[in-house]
Amino acid sequence: MTVALKQPVAAFDPQAIRAQFPILSRRINDKPLVYLDNAASAQKPRAVIDAMVGAMEHSYANVHRGLHTLANESTQAFEAARADVARLLGADAPERIVFTRGTTEAINLVASSLGQSIGEGDEIVLSIMEHHSNIVPWHLLRERKGAVIKWVELNPDGSLDMESYASALGDRTKIVALTHMSNVLGTRTDGAEIVRMAHARGAPVLLDGSQAAVHGAPDVMALGADFYVVTGHKLYGPTGAGALYAAGDWLDRLPPFLGGGEMIESVSREAVSYAPPPHKFEAGTPAIVEAIGFGEAARWLMAQDRPAIAAHEAALLEKATEGVLAQGGRVHGTAPDKGGILSFSFEKAHPHDLAQLLDKYGVAVRAGQHCAEPLMEHLGVHSTARASFAAYNTEEEVDMFLDALKRAREMLT
Ligand SMILES: Cc1ncc(COP(=O)(O)O)c(C=O)c1O
Repeated sequence: MTVALKQPVAAFDPQAIRAQFPILSRRINDKPLVYLDNAASAQKPRAVIDAMVGAMEHSYANVHRGLHTLANESTQAFEAARADVARLLGADAPERIVFTRGTTEAINLVASSLGQSIGEGDEIVLSIMEHHSNIVPWHLLRERKGAVIKWVELNPDGSLDMESYASALGDRTKIVALTHMSNVLGTRTDGAEIVRMAHARGAPVLLDGSQAAVHGAPDVMALGADFYVVTGHKLYGPTGAGALYAAGDWLDRLPPFLGGGEMIESVSREAVSYAPPPHKFEAGTPAIVEAIGFGEAARWLMAQDRPAIAAHEAALLEKATEGVLAQGGRVHGTAPDKGGILSFSFEKAHPHDLAQLLDKYGVAVRAGQHCAEPLMEHLGVHSTARASFAAYNTEEEVDMFLDALKRAREMLT
């Protein structure tokens, strides 16, 4: 029997990651930038920037149907990006990935296409911690079709109440659309269990992976979800590029979303036939350069030690949470295993004022409703401040954030 030698584990080094992000050397108000607005959008590594510039400088043309070199190169890069995003998500084939403008468009696609078979009284299961992009497309169906939205409640720590979920499922459930990680509370949901319970009732599941894919490494095949959606700009990629993963033959069965060029096989005066998926869902010239940047971001992420990033972010979250509590703040979301997102508020300081004052010290946080009004109502607050962590943040930055927070609060009280 051979004894496996333990590989020396290289310590996670956020400085090595920081060095790859040009914007992080900026100064704001004569202070070093402390960027803690990652849940809204992450910064971009040099690799992504170079891939996009390279595409425009060397290989740019419209994709598909081209008969010249640049069109072929551009198409190859675009389809390679699809394959990389598929690998990032653990999808079984690149054809299961539809490029969209982001999560919002991906959810609208499913709501619109699947929605064609939803009728009056059919039920849609959502939780009260969804981002508006996973609420409003379903409200549109409620308005148009008379569908009924069933709301899943939360436990006091901000975790999904699985009993409430079980009772929201019923014979008329036509889709379950739940977040895989809240952008406000940082709560991760048990995607595999959500899917298991829904499938037992014959209902398909869409998981919103906008945050979960950043702070973890979801495997769509292991989750078993019918639909999984992500948005490139939170995954260290560019804006304007996101993805819908659809399992099995869903993309064959669903009707198209938008109509136009690229998504057809043939068009006559009388009839239209559609291109095979995923192209059937990609009408018009796609965001070519952005998709290539998204593919590069996926490659960049896959080259990182993602469990180490998650552990690093958890350590930053813990330190920041302790600091905010020590200053007398209220922390929203305390579920075990939550991801690197810290929403907080102070009785005597409006979140907007805090965010503006923090900016004076170079610290970027977000304040507002975070596109989650039903959740704000549940929390009994109008808005919160939110610090959210990424691979490139450091313990020193958490100290700078806490120090700036203390000063900002002193100015406001
Ligand atoms: C959980 C969650 N879902 C959906 C979205 C919407 O993403 P996008 O605006 O890129 O479509 C966000 C963005 O904040 C999010 O955090």
